[in-house]
Amino acid sequence: MPPEPLARAQFPDGFLFGAATAAYQIEGSSFGGAGPCHWDSFAATPGNVVRAENGARACDHYHRWEADLDLMQAANLDAYRFSTSWARVMPDGVNVNPEGIDFYDRLVDGMLSRGLQPFQTLYHWDLPSALADHGGWTNRDTCHRFADYAEVITRRIGDRVASVATINEPWCVAWLSHFIGAHAPGLRDIRATARAMHHVLLAHGLAVGRLRGMGQPNLGIVLNFDHAAPASDAPEDHAAAGRYDAIFNRWFIEGITRQTYPEEVLAGLGPHMPANWQDDMALIGQKLDWLGVNYYTRHLHADAPGTPWPSLRDVAGDRPRTQMGWEIYPEGLQGFLTRLSRNHVGQMPIYVTENGMANPDRVEDGQVTDAVREDFLFSHLAATRAAIAEGANVKGFFYWSLLDNYEWAEGYEKRFGLVHVDFDTLARVPKSSYHALARALARNT
Ligand code: FCB
Repeated sequence: MPPEPLARAQFPDGFLFGAATAAYQIEGSSFGGAGPCHWDSFAATPGNVVRAENGARACDHYHRWEADLDLMQAANLDAYRFSTSWARVMPDGVNVNPEGIDFYDRLVDGMLSRGLQPFQTLYHWDLPSALADHGGWTNRDTCHRFADYAEVITRRIGDRVASVATINEPWCVAWLSHFIGAHAPGLRDIRATARAMHHVLLAHGLAVGRLRGMGQPNLGIVLNFDHAAPASDAPEDHAAAGRYDAIFNRWFIEGITRQTYPEEVLAGLGPHMPANWQDDMALIGQKLDWLGVNYYTRHLHADAPGTPWPSLRDVAGDRPRTQMGWEIYPEGLQGFLTRLSRNHVGQMPIYVTENGMANPDRVEDGQVTDAVREDFLFSHLAATRAAIAEGANVKGFFYWSLLDNYEWAEGYEKRFGLVHVDFDTLARVPKSSYHALARALARNT
């Protein structure tokens, strides 16, 4: 049975509904004086990205941002989660590009004039190549450069943003990109991984310290969570799921809320950690104002004896899948919101900062019908509501994504948008999910 469309009135007063995007995925990095970032070189390397596509033009949001903001206003959204591009603001990682900060200044004013609260993310993966040349996230110095960038952009737009997140999805920044090698910089090296796992949180801590010192309110971080289930009842598979859970779902939140890292992960990464990492934990564990939760799917794990740590093997589950091949599992969202509130953040506000699905949507007779996305969206909104009923202090939900866009290693192949984008003409066509959401959010007058 498809879920009933929920309406705004079924959520607590003041609950925010929004859409999310990220700079490199929509703006067009070849415009406006942005510098090269590590995704440009990763994409230019054969075999990394579908059709070697990059974000040079993307959705051309850099020139079409007003129409894109209009789309969100017309969908009755309350907030927009966007990211500012480090490589646009500081093309060489050090010097400021005035055109870049002017762009974000206009963009934020454009949100406010349309009644959209600006939820800014500082780092959604566009590391300036100049910093990548010095080792990127494996180099501690990158963390200090990040705090400088945070200060520069906040001096310009901090007076008008509703909230600031430091890092988007540290697991992707560190593990996916340095251990699995699926995202830029495409390393597969345990020592680089250990360093990135720590430095990405150190960068967060340094930026929080810098912005607090400037009096900037409402600071948070966006973590991603992946429901980890054992592939069988065997104790070895339970332990395997536990190792995955510790790497993906515990390392970052425990670093931030407990100033420790899980033993199960240090068992593998410990020998490769930067010297005296323990001394950074107080900085990493500074108090925050809110937590962002990105949630998409679950994975089943089996023990893989005879392979190096973490000795894991993925096993296919039996749920329907999205175009990404990800199982649809809304219970996992409810589970994480409840678990995080009980075990980690208490009544500190939580936002679902990303949730969505890819689907091979097509325009037919000028329309896009994506009923499967409507079901996905409303079942995850229902899961959010169930977590609120269980006591989680969830304050908002951002759908990923407003537009079909550059889906990283998947290029333009995977469509996550509420709005269809034709990547030849760049025409936007709101999908049926967009219209369903707009109806659900209409305010009764
Ligand atoms: C998340 C990313 C986002 C997008 C979605 C599908 O991991 O934060 O940029 O790629 O997945």
